[in-house]
Formats: sequence, structure tokens, C-alpha cells
Amino acid sequence: MDRGFIFGDGVYEVIPSYGGYFLRLEQHLNRLDASLASIRLDNPLSRQEWRSVLRHLVGAPPTPDQSVYLQITRGAPPRRDHLCPDGVSPTVFASASPIKPRDPKIATHGVACITRPDIRWQRCEVKSTSLVAAVMMRREAEDAGALETIMHRDGMVTEGAVSNVLVIESDTIMTPPISHLLLPGITRELALLLAEEHGIRYLEEPIPLATLRNADEIWLSSSTREVLPVTRLDGEPVGDGQPGQLWQRMDRLYQAYKEQVRNGDV
Ligand code: PDD
Repeated sequence: MDRGFIFGDGVYEVIPSYGGYFLRLEQHLNRLDASLASIRLDNPLSRQEWRSVLRHLVGAPPTPDQSVYLQITRGAPPRRDHLCPDGVSPTVFASASPIKPRDPKIATHGVACITRPDIRWQRCEVKSTSLVAAVMMRREAEDAGALETIMHRDGMVTEGAVSNVLVIESDTIMTPPISHLLLPGITRELALLLAEEHGIRYLEEPIPLATLRNADEIWLSSSTREVLPVTRLDGEPVGDGQPGQLWQRMDRLYQAYKEQVRNGDV
């Protein structure tokens, strides 16, 4: 009767580790707290307990690169009722799996995306396990020979089914501002931080679908896929149809940051 199973009543995180060190661990745990607060569930573990669970899962450095999936549900009451009775203990689940190295073809050819209306709810900032819309969108992308579906609401880009979207125009990174319409991605935040540190201009502002279609470059960001260049959108080339110059620069910065994580330096 677990409410994760019955209602999708839970939240989750995906946290990558490199060489046994976690990338942006505190930011991930902060977002977990924010998701839990949104669904009014107390965090069953302290920060210190989470750190030790995660350490136990990936092992002591140096270890192979792994990502940890963790999920907390409201637990398993005796019967199905949308209103959860008091006194039910949350369920905590966590597992680690190897991070596959990126297919080298991605850096040379990029990936394809399709666009679709955003059919999700209005609390997309919550990293909820209710993901059937994302499952449908990813399937549509796959069926169209694409990696990801970029969604839009009222003519404005929101995000990918499982990633954030960044758009490059005139050497400036643009990405929709944080709101209830999208997940505050940790990779998105890191890409903007790296941009800031290295003097690359960026703007957090609403992006009309027409801007996406005319972009010089489009990037996707997520913990498991890092920052990816999109070279085809709805079957049309993005820019010149090749991974862009700015993406190449961002990827170098991102890979260098990962190396710092791997060495325990950040
Ligand atoms: N998804 N937006 C959505 C809807 C996502 O599901 C994700 C990540 C992101 C990127 O967030 P971050 O950079 O913090 O990973 C944006 C994870 C990886 C997943 O569901 O597997």
C-alpha cells in the first residue's frame, strides 16, 4: 500500500558522483528539502544521515562514477485514502548505478529534440515521483528518433521532459527563469555559475517558442546527461546543424569542474 506506488506521493533526487565525490551535494539536498516541504512531508533523515547513506552507497573514494537515485514516499498506511492518516513512517529508497561515459558521437553530432505542449501540472518545481507525463513525452521523442521533448506552455519554452533547456543567441545563454513551471535544475545552475565565472553572458528570461526555433544553439542540462548540444529540432537543423562553439566551451568548463569534483577539490 505504499503511497509512492498507489498515488505517486513522493519526491526524489538524482545525484551524480565522480571518483566517489558528489557533485553539488548540498544543492541537491537543499532541493530535496524544498520538494519535501512542498508536499508537506518531514525529511526522515538528517543531513548527516543522508551524507552517510550516500557515502555507504557509492563507497570510499576513489570509486567508479555513479549516480545515486533516492526517493522518499509518504509510506504505507493500511488502506488507500488520498488523505494520509497520522503516524505513517515515510519510505526511503536509495540506490547507486554506474554512470555510462557519454557517447562520443554526441560531441560531434549533437542530439535531436522534438517540441510538444507542456501537459504537466503547475508545480513542476517539485521533484515529484508522479512522472507519467515525462514518461509519455520521452516515449514520443524516442518514437520520433529524438532524445528529448522540449515543452512549451502559452507559447513559452518551459523545459525538457527530463532536462532543462538553454538557448544561445548572439553569444548569450538564455534560459527560462525559475518558477513553478520548471524544475530548478542543479546542472542548469552550475552551467550559469560557470558562465558567470568565465565571463559568458547569460539571461534568465522567458523564451518564446519562435526564439527557440531561431536559436544559434540549444543545450539540454541534467545531472545524468550533463550539458548536451541539440542539433536538430523537429527535424530541422539548429544553427548550422553542428554542436556550437559556445557549447564546446561550456563542455570544457563542465568537464574541468567534474575533474575538480573527482579530486575532492570542490
Ligand atoms: N531529471 N527538469 C526535469 C523535468 C528533470 O526531470 C530534470 C532531471 C531536470 C534537470 O535537473 P538536474 O540538473 O538537477 O538533474 C530538469 C533527472 C535526472 C531524472 O529524472 O532522472
